[in-house]
Amino acid sequence: METNHNIRVLNDAATLNLEMAATMARLSSDVIKQRGVCTLVLSGGSTPKSLYALMARSDWRTKFDWTHTSLFWGDERSVPPDHPDSNYAMVKKALLSQVPIPADNVNRIVTEQGTPDEVAAVYEETLRRQAAAKADTKQIAMPRFDLVLLGLGTNGHTASLFPHMAALRERERLVVASYVEEVKSYRITMTAPLLNNARNIFFLVSGAEKADVLQQVLYGPQQPEVLPAQLIRPSNGSLVWMTDQPAARLLPRTATASQVKP
Ligand code: 6PG
Repeated sequence: METNHNIRVLNDAATLNLEMAATMARLSSDVIKQRGVCTLVLSGGSTPKSLYALMARSDWRTKFDWTHTSLFWGDERSVPPDHPDSNYAMVKKALLSQVPIPADNVNRIVTEQGTPDEVAAVYEETLRRQAAAKADTKQIAMPRFDLVLLGLGTNGHTASLFPHMAALRERERLVVASYVEEVKSYRITMTAPLLNNARNIFFLVSGAEKADVLQQVLYGPQQPEVLPAQLIRPSNGSLVWMTDQPAARLLPRTATASQVKP
């Protein structure tokens, strides 16, 4: 059982969002200075909605260089882009409709482009092609994102890597489609090898309902088939757990004592 995690515990969801937004703004600014473009993988679900809305706020949107920020999605539901369940639709409403990001910088998973498997294959090709172009080479084995934002489901899933899915054991593919019994729908998701190749991964975990699963993922036995979030261990990058006090309630005090911001 790994015990030394990089955990930040903020007082509540509002301060967690402020700290997350400040961290993303600082990191993306540094990356753009160094490499010209920041590639950012967004999470879906409900937790990050308020973060995206904060980033879109007039006093925050100018802290990001949208012209040099490329957005991607870690996963998507197999629904049209204007469907209420669409992660793209959620980000468009909260963020994209409010900030001056060029359309070419928005790389959504184009769910209306065929079967879920075809959609996954097209997205994988898009990722490979963009990474190769950026590196000015023919073929990139594994794209490397600058910043990946992930959520944590109460069942231990992240992105759309759900317990006991075959996709958990994928070692070659970057993006796969799976029928998820638990949610009775197809999902398209980045795979663990692709996510783990990122430079900076942040889990954003907020609320009392996540306390149990967060404690299990971080301090329980290693069982990634049951708790897929345990698959996320960057091979050459950083992993930070951004949480609030309600979500961190069950973590050992040593893990969080110095972390709670005044
Ligand atoms: C999705 C997300 C998913 C999400 C978790 C947590 O498509 O739903 O990518 O992995 O991050 O389910 O969701 P909440 O933030 O809504 O708890």
